[in-house]
Amino acid sequence: MSKEIQIKSKKKILKNYISTNFFFKFLKLILNPVKLFTKLKNYKSDKNLVVKIDWHQRTKKYGKYGVIDTQTPEEEFDNVTNIQKKIIFQCLKKYLNGNEKKALDFGCGNGRFSEEIVKLNSQILVLAVDTEKKLIDLAKRNNRINFLYFRKLDEIKASFDLIFISNVLGGIEKQNIIKIKDFLIRKLNKGGTLFLTEHVSKNQKKSKEILKEWSNRNDSFYLNLFKKLNLKKVDEYKYLHNFTSIYVGRK
Ligand SMILES: C[S@@+](CC[C@H](N)C(=O)[O-])C[C@H]1O[C@@H](n2cnc3c(N)ncnc32)[C@H](O)[C@@H]1O
Repeated sequence: MSKEIQIKSKKKILKNYISTNFFFKFLKLILNPVKLFTKLKNYKSDKNLVVKIDWHQRTKKYGKYGVIDTQTPEEEFDNVTNIQKKIIFQCLKKYLNGNEKKALDFGCGNGRFSEEIVKLNSQILVLAVDTEKKLIDLAKRNNRINFLYFRKLDEIKASFDLIFISNVLGGIEKQNIIKIKDFLIRKLNKGGTLFLTEHVSKNQKKSKEILKEWSNRNDSFYLNLFKKLNLKKVDEYKYLHNFTSIYVGRK
């Protein structure tokens, strides 16, 4: 249970340290009085503001590299993805019977994991869906993966033996998550598997949640969200400053 993905670039490690360290952040603010003043002025109103990631802008700026922490050096994207694949799919394989025919990759991004789902068995077909068209356009085509850009959940017509979700729910506000959760449970075939990975906070205390781009909810949040599927935490890993939990549930 102590897997950690390390980046190799020393320069980037130092840069990341400086950009996330409290002391350096404070120093940067002190050296920029206009920013400090604006921050103090807006403090109260900003505190309760829901800030969602604008996936369209993010993809315009970072391309496929925006699907993971943008502190990752671009030249290390493939290496980090390969280590994540190893951790995630070694774990997922233990919970499948090899007879899965239809899988959904929900919030697939550029499909970096969809291409691994088709390798799970020789018959599986994947529907890989995302609400950001540019990411779908960037995905590598495969004759067993159907990529779908969608706006409304009911555009997803089929039902599935496997639903795979990797780091999607953390960027979505609670109200919307409940709708997505109910929909996904309906779409899972009897005996089907839900496989979920999400960044989490180790803080087990519940506090009022206001989404600020990404919400590192705790394990209890996700376990409770999918309790109908008897969701269990089966592994975890650390990458940069984030812990990612891996969960499995069955209908
Ligand atoms: C952190 S990325 C992860 C992408 C991919 N699962 C991966 O691990 O490479 C989150 C993805 O969720 C997508 N997304 C955001 N809101 C969504 C929603 N309501 N339904 C489906 N996908 C959504 C984003 O467009 C983005 O591609």
